[in-house]
Amino acid sequence: MSKAPRLEGKVALVTGAASGIGAESVRLFASNGALVVAADVQDELGHGVVESIGSERVSYHHCDVRDEKEVEETVNYTLNKYGSLDVLFSNAGIIGPISSILELDIQGFHNTMATNVVGVASTIKHASRAMVARNIRGSIICTTSVSASLGGTGPHAYTTSKHALVGLVRSACSELGVHGIRVNSISPFGVATPLACRAFNLEPHEVEANSSAIANLKGIVLKATHIAEAALFLASDESAYISGHNLVVDGGFTVVNHSFASKL
Ligand SMILES: NC(=O)c1ccc[n+]([C@@H]2O[C@H](COP(=O)([O-])OP(=O)(O)OC[C@H]3O[C@@H](n4cnc5c(N)ncnc54)[C@H](O)[C@@H]3O)[C@@H](O)[C@H]2O)c1
Repeated sequence: MSKAPRLEGKVALVTGAASGIGAESVRLFASNGALVVAADVQDELGHGVVESIGSERVSYHHCDVRDEKEVEETVNYTLNKYGSLDVLFSNAGIIGPISSILELDIQGFHNTMATNVVGVASTIKHASRAMVARNIRGSIICTTSVSASLGGTGPHAYTTSKHALVGLVRSACSELGVHGIRVNSISPFGVATPLACRAFNLEPHEVEANSSAIANLKGIVLKATHIAEAALFLASDESAYISGHNLVVDGGFTVVNHSFASKL
């Protein structure tokens, strides 16, 4: 007996959807039966993602998450286009400037927080308003990072922003539970997306080699699709009682002290 697609009948909005983890998630959500709005600031790439899926089920919409009006407009576009909003995957993020704390770029710090924290808060605000108004028991998912729980794994502003996101997820979860809305996050280890390649000026295979060298779990290379699979689980009814959770997809990296473990 064939099972129904895991997101059948659901409408999803994915931010940061033109590239990397977001683009993979749009593909996976659509192939699992969802109607998807892919939102990003890279319009050409975003349209390309939609064309590559070649589906009536996916559309692209420009949205800079730093601009609350654009976020509100994108939520309204989703509601008008597909008649609902069941899943928000608030995934857009930037790595921001990489520098010593002694030379901290304060403007860059503000911009990282504006995108990675305020931008996500804005998407949660407008998506949850739509869900509450329509009695939708929705699923909200944010992309944090291993840098949400471990210092020294990313630039200062990035690490700060991802720690803050875990707090935002818990806080939103505490208010939205009464409406049946779940709020969770996913913390990926290093994936060779354009964000990671640009940050370290490396080719994808070099990013993967570096990640694999310090990874805890060996014999597998972390890909964007592994993160998308985690998002699919949190978006679907298979995770119906999971809320306030930070699903770490890091092969155990953040729970092992490698410098100590290697000496045992
Ligand atoms: N790649 C990794 O190693 C890694 C690890 C942990 C967490 N993450 C997180 O995963 C998420 C996705 O990143 P990725 O690795 O797929 O990188 P990516 O650069 O491939 O994708 C990020 C997307 O976000 C979009 N974006 C950036 N600023 C935006 C804005 N203001 N409004 C709307 N869209 C915007 C970009 O245009 C891009 O398409 C980010 O939140 C990132 O912090 C990535």
